[in-house]
Amino acid sequence: MSPSSTPKFKNPRARFNFQGRTVSITGVGAYVPAKALTNYELEKMVDTTDEWITTRTGIKERRIAAKDEFTSDMAAKAAQRAMKAAGVTPDQVDLIIVATITPDMVFPSTACVVQQKIGATRAAAFDIEAACSGFIYGLEIGQQFIMSRSYDTVLVIGAEKLSAIIDWTDRNTCVLFGDGAGCAVLQSRGKSHGLLTAVMGADGSKAELLYMPGGGSRCPASSQSVSSRLHYLRMEGKETFKHAVQAMVSAATESLRRCDLKITDIKCVIPHQANRRIIDAVGDRLGARPDQLFVNLDRYGNTSAASVAIALDEAVNSGRIHRGDLILLVVFGAGLTWGAAVIEW
Ligand code: ACO
Repeated sequence: MSPSSTPKFKNPRARFNFQGRTVSITGVGAYVPAKALTNYELEKMVDTTDEWITTRTGIKERRIAAKDEFTSDMAAKAAQRAMKAAGVTPDQVDLIIVATITPDMVFPSTACVVQQKIGATRAAAFDIEAACSGFIYGLEIGQQFIMSRSYDTVLVIGAEKLSAIIDWTDRNTCVLFGDGAGCAVLQSRGKSHGLLTAVMGADGSKAELLYMPGGGSRCPASSQSVSSRLHYLRMEGKETFKHAVQAMVSAATESLRRCDLKITDIKCVIPHQANRRIIDAVGDRLGARPDQLFVNLDRYGNTSAASVAIALDEAVNSGRIHRGDLILLVVFGAGLTWGAAVIEW
């Protein structure tokens, strides 16, 4: 459908007089490490069972990066696959945005490392940090540069090596997370409305529901911080769960409202892959049919900023999404942060 023809939905960005410049995802790509860590293997590491993990989370296995495989390596592989799908060469890339809570180093940004690894020497590069919500935050930031005509081609990457910040002696958290990366190429395709709207939210008053206390300026690394295990992710699971469901439902509802859409108009809902029970509760409250929900967390666990990006790649490549379909992405993470986006594919 051309942006100038009459659509069956409202494009909220049209009020900004975008003069026909819409922003689409023209290619997706993902990469997960080869090593799968199953629930049965975790049974040998901590006091847990496959039955507990499966019934409480829906996760059966997760991927774990090799010792010498870093967030930037996974991000670069996902980016190369997405660029190939979009028919984009490294010299065409104007900007690289990497969403991650597990950068290779505190600085420089992982995006700069990726820029070098994919040979996108013309591109500007920076990281953003919105935890599991990072990919939607990244899409919204990236599309602004294209709408404003500052740039033509932007890579938005969600990439995580969460295995590096997991306390492998803590059964409350170590069973939940995995490693991986996903990338979307943003461009103006002209024949589609693309990213119709994105809702983003945050609540810093609940920052300590999900955080890593050590390693920043508040608590730099010291022998004491290491012995107190402050360089690992900590989470209040039950409280986080409650906020996740509420925030995801309200972000998704607001994004649909802005576009004059009902949930039944959506071909595929791609929620953050944290917990099957969260996904089902969000789906229920939105009134989505089970077959509208895309789920792959059984194979990857929670990969934070990479989660929705990897799921989007799988949904596209498995034929769940076709050009012209309306899709809904909805996320939640540390911060707290949340978001939702409606896209005409
Ligand atoms: N194996 C066996 N037992 C366990 C395990 C385990 N791996 N982990 C916890 N338990 C025990 C607990 O110790 C507790 O035992 P107790 O009753 O004797 O104290 C019992 O199981 C129940 O624990 P709960 O915390 O009540 O379990 P719950 O049903 O809430 O499930 C979970 C826990 C899976 C963590 C869930 O709360 C959840 O998914 N929370 C949200 C996670 C999330 O969405 N995070 C946001 C994004 S992440 C990001 O931004 C990086």
